[in-house]
Amino acid sequence: MNNNSLTFPSNFLWGGALSANQVEGAYLEDGKGLSVADVLPEGILGRIVSPPDREYLKHKASDFYNRYKEDIALFAEMGFKCLRVSIAWTRIFPNGDESEPNEDGLRFYDSLFSELKRHNIEPLVTLSHYEMPMYLVEEYGGWISRSVIGFFENFVKTVFNRYKDVVKYWITFNEINMILHAPFIAAGIRPDKVEITNQLLYQAIHHQFVASAKAVKLCHEIIDGAKLGCMIAGLAVYPLTPRPDDSLEVIKRERESYFFSDVQARGYYPSYMNRFFRENNIIITMEEEDKEILKHTVDFVSFSYYMSGCATSRDDIEEQEANIFKTIPNPHLKSSEWGWQIDAKGLRITLNHLYDRYQKPLFIVENGLGANDEVVDGQIHDGYRIDYIKEHLIQVGEALLDGVYLMGYTSWGPLDLVSQSTGEFRKRYGFIFVDKYDDLTGTYNRIKKDSFYWYKSVIQSNGRILYPDC
Ligand code: BG6
Repeated sequence: MNNNSLTFPSNFLWGGALSANQVEGAYLEDGKGLSVADVLPEGILGRIVSPPDREYLKHKASDFYNRYKEDIALFAEMGFKCLRVSIAWTRIFPNGDESEPNEDGLRFYDSLFSELKRHNIEPLVTLSHYEMPMYLVEEYGGWISRSVIGFFENFVKTVFNRYKDVVKYWITFNEINMILHAPFIAAGIRPDKVEITNQLLYQAIHHQFVASAKAVKLCHEIIDGAKLGCMIAGLAVYPLTPRPDDSLEVIKRERESYFFSDVQARGYYPSYMNRFFRENNIIITMEEEDKEILKHTVDFVSFSYYMSGCATSRDDIEEQEANIFKTIPNPHLKSSEWGWQIDAKGLRITLNHLYDRYQKPLFIVENGLGANDEVVDGQIHDGYRIDYIKEHLIQVGEALLDGVYLMGYTSWGPLDLVSQSTGEFRKRYGFIFVDKYDDLTGTYNRIKKDSFYWYKSVIQSNGRILYPDC
């Protein structure tokens, strides 16, 4: 960046991002039903134990359900302009297919949103963050069933009507592309009960697309001036070598993610999928109205970004699993303790790709470093987290100069929470430490880490402190 361009836009939405199932706890309180998130003791790819056979970390999580006022005050102290949260579907419709909502559940979010308003923090609300009701999984087979569209519509209509005066920014499905890698958490499809085929997955995906487009339509009808976005898990992919075949492999990999934003941002299936469907014998059953419904496209495109990876067409090079994506490690990059390759420039690349592709506003709704912090004399010196976020934000600044239109940046897990992939607590992302451990012990006390004060100064300066030399 040069001297004349050192600021982020004045209305830039700085903040943090949480999901109900990773922070709230109170997993069966006040009428809440069981969700897919409540039955995974070892995280996304682990065993499904339904009903749970003991207490898992997510059942109490960070105790946000009881402590959200204290936590929101801390977010306000950091100067947050925005907080991304999700509404647990099972607090509002415990089974998912009821016609009348659970008033206690609705009241919790009334109170949460009014607390945010009191602190001038804009809520950004995800409608479905890996939180489908277990009842819909067991009785209907999850998103395989078209009936789920109607249940989701009812849920969405209920929350749009209830919160229309306080919530203007919405997201439909968290990391919708994850259905290809984690069909249970993303779509309620049980791999231990159903044979997962491409036919089945792409039919479920179609149902989610229709549900998402219906939500866009409803959102615009019910809430004045609201903006609704889609959300994908972003991943920058590089060819392992300059061999043309490796570049073709990159295109294939990118399309595995961009297919989802293509449909939601453009309003129709991209032509490259015709060949994929044909060669894989996939026939999507569509109803008459579907093509028209899909034309209700999103207002912005949001994504999570943690890492990058390499791709090759060679099958003698083994891919490694990190963040559920399987990729080949890049020899030029370092990795986090959990093997996620750290690549700030990959964020700039992803922003440019997405903006070139859609020319729609973008929103980085997750980014951060999972690390096992150590408390020393009551303090947490997490310089590594500051370095990670600083490097990424500098690249965000570069992308802004490249011409990308970015609405905001919400760092993942500003408050320590339960890891989605591994179900652990020691994988911490927070600026605020939560005294809670994998063996279920802990007081839940909150401690400000070094990164708390640093992020506060980033927001206060609207990004200027990222460039101390200018
Ligand atoms: C995203 C999810 O995949 O990454 C979050 O939307 C998740 O729910 C985050 O927590 C980080 O992943 P993990 O596995 O470290 O919790």
